[in-house]
Amino acid sequence: MTIKQRVIFVAAECSPLVKVGGLADVVGSLPLALRKNGIEIEIILPYYKQIKKIKTAKLWRKNISLNTKIKPNKFSVYQTFLPNSNIKIHLIKHPQISSVGQIYFDKPNLNQQRFAVFSLAAATLINKLKTKPGVVHLHDWHSALIPTLFELEQISIPTILTIHNLSSQGVWSIKKVRKIIPNFPISNSRGSINFLAEGIKKANIITTVSPSYAKEILTPKYGFGLDKILKRRKNNLYGIINGIDYQYFNPVTDNKIFNNYSINNLNKKQTNTLLLKRELGLQENSAPLLGVVSRLFPQKGLDLLAETLPQIIKYDWQFVLLGTGQKNLENKFKKLAKSYPQKIKAIIDFDPALAQKIYAGSDIFIIPSRFEPCGLTQMIAMRYGAVPLARATGGLKDTIVPHPAKNSTGFLFHKPSSTALRLAIVKSLKVFNNKTNWRNLQKRAMQQDFSWNKPAQSYIKLYKQLIK
Ligand code: GLC
Repeated sequence: MTIKQRVIFVAAECSPLVKVGGLADVVGSLPLALRKNGIEIEIILPYYKQIKKIKTAKLWRKNISLNTKIKPNKFSVYQTFLPNSNIKIHLIKHPQISSVGQIYFDKPNLNQQRFAVFSLAAATLINKLKTKPGVVHLHDWHSALIPTLFELEQISIPTILTIHNLSSQGVWSIKKVRKIIPNFPISNSRGSINFLAEGIKKANIITTVSPSYAKEILTPKYGFGLDKILKRRKNNLYGIINGIDYQYFNPVTDNKIFNNYSINNLNKKQTNTLLLKRELGLQENSAPLLGVVSRLFPQKGLDLLAETLPQIIKYDWQFVLLGTGQKNLENKFKKLAKSYPQKIKAIIDFDPALAQKIYAGSDIFIIPSRFEPCGLTQMIAMRYGAVPLARATGGLKDTIVPHPAKNSTGFLFHKPSSTALRLAIVKSLKVFNNKTNWRNLQKRAMQQDFSWNKPAQSYIKLYKQLIK
């Protein structure tokens, strides 16, 4: 029974081995929850140079041949385990994947090339396994060609494709795809192949990472050109909210924060705030600390926040941002920090330890995203008693109950404009001044269950639907 329920994930990222964004958190933590619920699970990842540096893996299969026109037409597989588990990770090694340091390239061509080779190798490997998995679970465009590859090779293993972000799709010329995958079928007249669209058309089931986003992507506004194709698959499209790793993200045991605390001694959270202010070089006063931990990309709407902060400068608050990304956004926040050194700090870095201190130290956590498939930081913030203030979209809308509802857990604003954001922040500052109300709001946020338990059950239900 367990063998039949074996599931294989194919993905481009997996925490803690390789992380760029939220995709890694999901691929690194959902398998643990599935395993707990009796699902046998393995993961296939590219063997990036970066992984080689931090993790030792053993050579498992050498020189498996690939049906391709590129050289070399073979790949090897290395094996390791997801830390603290017996979950096997198969690492695909091929020069297109393993000879360059970075994960994603600035030049799209190179990404498409890398993930076309990766997908071909992953499909080939799965086909060679003695015991085939019951389901292959694909994540984002990087592995979305696999259902088509299965079809080409007449492999009848069912597939699920999870869309973590519809805005990256992987589009490449049919000529170039065919150099790597010789018989790749042409499904349109445009001379190009959209990796994600292929997966959406061919996977047995499509999921995305929140119920609201599953609805939004059927509209032209959020569909990034794929809304029509998605609509055709509407009956096989599900929205399952992500969870977060409740062991890693736990203020009671987190060893990266200044002081551990729980819902029963929130005064210790205040110590975290003061010590963080000290570390950042901010005055250690009672002003609420507004926090942001984010990649700096247009999706995240942080340009709206950069516009808003100077407009509310007369109010009592301090602000810290941690993140890296687009240079123009990085510069905007650096400039703000220079103009208002008493109030604004911008740390342009990728620093998981500081991120934890910010979750633990912030009073209000701001997420002004233009769109957000799920969003993990609002859930982490709530777990640490930092009250989220976010745009009402996608997973943010699904996880935050907005003030002034009786059971509210945060603040939501609707229009993606700096005015709407400003009004929401001003409102939250007012509520902050009523200590009892604020404490209750914080506690309700901390009491939410964002563990993987329920979402894992939802995935298992879909797997069972596919495994006959
Ligand atoms: C992407 C999405 C984010 C989601 C994450 C994990 O990074 O932008 O909303 O939480 O994937 O699914």
